[in-house]
Amino acid sequence: MPDGPGPRSARAVIFLGPPGAGKGTQAKAVASRFGLAHISTGDMFRDHMSRNTLLGEQAKRFVQSGGLVPDEVVLGMVGDRISQPDCQAGFVLDGFPRTRRQAEALAETLRARSCEQPLVIYFAVDADQLLRRLTGRRTCKVGGEIYNIYDLPPKVPGRCDNDGGELFQRPDDREEVIRERLSQYEAQTRPLVDYYRERGLLVEVNAMGSQAEVTERVLQVLGRTG
Ligand code: AP5
Repeated sequence: MPDGPGPRSARAVIFLGPPGAGKGTQAKAVASRFGLAHISTGDMFRDHMSRNTLLGEQAKRFVQSGGLVPDEVVLGMVGDRISQPDCQAGFVLDGFPRTRRQAEALAETLRARSCEQPLVIYFAVDADQLLRRLTGRRTCKVGGEIYNIYDLPPKVPGRCDNDGGELFQRPDDREEVIRERLSQYEAQTRPLVDYYRERGLLVEVNAMGSQAEVTERVLQVLGRTG
């Protein structure tokens, strides 16, 4: 046996919260600072859909209508992603898990890989803020940078500050689809707040306020628990 501690096991961080809470924005801001890969299941589905893959075909009607993609499809995709080399030091899961079954499958995967227990950061936002954030969201076609026409506008309307890429509105950010996403969240995903709280894994972060203020709070939690 070699002397000293072995390689540090992978750190798993879950960003949990309703649609529009700011999970993706904060994951982009903080993951790389801690050497963590950013795994967004929503981004992965959108990528598959744009490339017309089989997985994209399987996910399409659920994503477009605001429903949840079936667990078996999600679990296979996330399992593959977590086994990629860039996840060895750890990863931020953004938008996963979303159901009790996904949470239990994740626990099993982490145990099998001798990963640490996950740290779950719950983004607490007032309900009336969510609609404003979702209807105002615009995303860069090139680099995926996230803006908001009300609260985080680009310097030049319709163009990304970083690479000048065209900004687009996600089709599922239409009001009727948003309503369905919020209702799926309440029914299927909100119960995970208690699930993780009961296990002592959940830290609640106040996700109201500016993007920079929320980033500071998330960094504090990650730094304190790292
Ligand atoms: P996904 O892409 O994961 O959507 P979501 O969970 O609904 O989350 P959002 O991306 O809408 O919000 P966010 O919290 O990341 O907010 P953001 O940072 O962008 O999933 C899409 C679909 O894929 C699902 O509906 C489902 O069909 C499917 N899917 C995905 N994962 C699945 C799974 N595990 N199981 C089954 N199906 C799955 O910010 C939002 C806006 O707010 C932006 O405009 C931003 O600029 C702004 N903003 C952010 N922070 C602030 C702030 N502090 N102040 C003001 N504005 C802010």
